[in-house]
Amino acid sequence: MTVLDRIGAGHHDMIEWRRHLHAHPELAFQEVATAAFVANRLAAFGIEVHRGLAGTGVVGVLRQGQSRRSIGLRADMDALAMTEHNSFAHASQHPGRMHGCGHDGHTVMLLGAARYLAETRNFDGTVYLIFQPAEEGAGGARVMIEQGLFDHFPCDAVFGMHNWPQLPLGTFGVRAGPVMAAADQFEILVTGKGGHGAMPHLGIDPIVVAAHIITAAQTLVSRGVDPVDTAAVSVTMIEGGTTFNVIPDSVTLSGTVRSFRPATQERLQRGLCRIAESIAAAFGATARVDYRRGSPATVNSATEADFAASVAARVVGDVNVRRDAEPSMGAEDFAFMLECRPGCYVWLGQGGGPSSCMLHNPHYDFQDQILPIGASYWALLAESALPRGD
Ligand code: NI
Repeated sequence: MTVLDRIGAGHHDMIEWRRHLHAHPELAFQEVATAAFVANRLAAFGIEVHRGLAGTGVVGVLRQGQSRRSIGLRADMDALAMTEHNSFAHASQHPGRMHGCGHDGHTVMLLGAARYLAETRNFDGTVYLIFQPAEEGAGGARVMIEQGLFDHFPCDAVFGMHNWPQLPLGTFGVRAGPVMAAADQFEILVTGKGGHGAMPHLGIDPIVVAAHIITAAQTLVSRGVDPVDTAAVSVTMIEGGTTFNVIPDSVTLSGTVRSFRPATQERLQRGLCRIAESIAAAFGATARVDYRRGSPATVNSATEADFAASVAARVVGDVNVRRDAEPSMGAEDFAFMLECRPGCYVWLGQGGGPSSCMLHNPHYDFQDQILPIGASYWALLAESALPRGD
C-alpha cells in the first residue's frame, strides 16, 4: 500500500476536519479554538504536544529510533478579516472572518500526515509538526522564533507548503532560490499650507506635491532597479482634502514595496525617502516617511528544494512537478523560518475545480481533493529525510 493509499483511506475524516475549521475561522493570534482542535487531535494520535509559543502556536513532537536528525513541517492556522460570499454548508459562521487563503486545508494536511506518521513510525529521528498562528501580515512565524521555536525544537531543515489556485489541481510548483518577495509598507505624510482653492498662491498645495511624489516614485523600479532583477512599488491609497474649494493642509500616501534581494530592498527604501523628502522640499512643503519592513523574501535552499521536488514527484509523478515555477511578488512569513534554517516552501496546485478562484477572494474555498496529496507529501518528506537504517 502506498503512503497516498493509506492516507487516502482517512480522506473522509480530513474533509470533516477541514470543513469544521472552515466554518469557524479565527484571526491572527486569536486561533484559540483552532489551536485546541489541533492539540486535541495530536494528543489523540499519541503525539507529544507543546502549546503557547506565540500565544496560540502548537508544536507536536514525534520521536522514533536513535537518530539525532530532525525535520520541521510547518502549517499556518489563521483566517482573513473578510466576509465569505459562499453559500455552501461549511461557509464561515462568522461575518468578517473567512478562511480565504486555505490555511484550514494547510492545518488539516499536516494533521493527516501527523496521524499517519504516529501510526506507522516508519522513520528514525524527530519530526516537529509546527502549527503557527498569524501568517497573514502579523508575523506569527517571527514571534514563534523570537520565543525560542528553534531553541526548543532544533530542526535540521524546515518545510512549508501553500495551496495555489494558479497551478493545476494535484501538481506541485517548486523552485530553488527566491520564491516570494519581501513585503514592506510605507506611509508618507505630505504637509503644506491649507487655504482657499481660489487663492493657491497664499498656501502650499500638498495635493500637487503628492502628485509629483507619486509620479517620481514610478522611476524607483524602472530607472533604479537592475532590469534583470524584479521589484514593485505601488502607491495604493491617497487621503487628502474634504471639499472642492479648500486646499488641505496635508495629504497621506500609502503603499507597498516588493523585492527579492536585500540590496534592492535597501535601495528602494532609501530612494522612496529621498524622492518624497526632496520633492516636498522643492515645493516648500515637508514629507515624513514611515517605512515598515514586513516579511523578508522567501528563499529556498538549493539542496532542500531539490529534495522537496523529488519527494513531490513520488506522490504525484514527475510530470506533475514544475521545478521552475514562477516566483510570486506576494509575501509569506515562512520566510522568517527560512532565514534561520535551510528548507523549502512549495506550492500545491488546486486550480481547475469549481472554486479555483484566487486566494483572498470572497468566493474562494480550499479544494478537499488535494488533502491526501498534501498530507502524503508531508509524510514522505519526513520518512525520506529521516530514513530507517534497517
Ligand atoms: Ni496563505
